[in-house]
Amino acid sequence: MATSTTETPAAADAGLLFRKVLGHLPTGVVVIASEGASGRTGIAVNSFTAVSLDPALVSICVARTSTTWPAIRAAGRFCISILADHHEQASRQFSARNTDRFAGTSWHDQSAGPALDDAVAWLNCEMYAEYAAGDHTIVVARVHSLSAAEDGSALVFFRGLYGRFVPNPQPPTKGATP
Ligand SMILES: Cc1cc2nc3c(=O)[nH]c(=O)nc-3n(C[C@H](O)[C@H](O)[C@H](O)COP(=O)(O)O)c2cc1C
Repeated sequence: MATSTTETPAAADAGLLFRKVLGHLPTGVVVIASEGASGRTGIAVNSFTAVSLDPALVSICVARTSTTWPAIRAAGRFCISILADHHEQASRQFSARNTDRFAGTSWHDQSAGPALDDAVAWLNCEMYAEYAAGDHTIVVARVHSLSAAEDGSALVFFRGLYGRFVPNPQPPTKGATP
């Protein structure tokens, strides 16, 4: 087993350590996109999670410093695309500042906003609630419709690197002939 040490960093390093440790949890990456008065925009996030079944709710955490979120919030509704394993460049582009985030991106309209083509799933949402949480805002959204691709594999973000999900080999079924 690999060894680990408990680090107690100086305050200046605390943010780095927090990111490093939390980066050990593999996540998917989603693009939240809207079309509002200020045009079409989107943002890549990995803090997406399911919250409630009835009503259907999901959440994301958005940095208070985000320059994109206010436009999506103002639109009030947005489409969440769960990125596929070939969407690494899209993830980078939808997190870069001072760029047209949709440039060169293949997308289509869904009921709540622009959706990335060839994503593995899409959720059409509207704002439901917001909670201040330190330097982020927890955004809860109501899901009005959702769909998933029949095949395809999700993009995975782990320790600052992009990858893909590889299932473990399945054990042979009991009683199956070799
Ligand atoms: C893989 C990945 C995950 C991210 N997750 C989040 C997140 O959960 N919340 C967030 O506010 N920003 C997240 N970001 C950063 C945003 O995509 C974006 O870079 C940041 O909000 C600055 O751009 P903005 O000013 O246009 O919002 C993530 C970026 C990447 C590449």
